[in-house]
Amino acid sequence: MDSQSAPSPQRRQFLYIILGGTAALFAGLAAWPVWRYLLPGRKADAEARVPVPRGDVSPGKAYFFNFRGQPAVILQPAPGKFVALSAVCTHLGCIVQWLPDQKEFQCPCHGGRFNPEGQVLGGPPPKPLALLPLTLEGDQLLVG
Ligand code: FES
Repeated sequence: MDSQSAPSPQRRQFLYIILGGTAALFAGLAAWPVWRYLLPGRKADAEARVPVPRGDVSPGKAYFFNFRGQPAVILQPAPGKFVALSAVCTHLGCIVQWLPDQKEFQCPCHGGRFNPEGQVLGGPPPKPLALLPLTLEGDQLLVG
């Protein structure tokens, strides 16, 4: 009998199963990130309200935070009055900064200016900063 003869049919079948399973596993691992990327975001995340402790928003100061993946800001322009705005400039999308001495938002890119309620004061922005829904529940400000 030849010692270099072909593997037996059972051994060949076993190798095919192992190779096929391994190939399927790697194909699944490679496709998973693509699948997750193509799936729309979970609706629960998109609708979740973002809590901000009321104590973190001092009068006259701005509190910047992340709202559903976008920069946002809460302001207390007068004691007990809170405003939540998108911090994304409506001109070309730069992030606005709060200037407490001037009591206005300014965009560092092209000099757009907004008042504490997000209305355009000057510069190229074509419309106000987006106003975000805001409710107060206990010591929490809930945005969204
Ligand atoms: S991006 Fe804000 S003024 Fe141009």
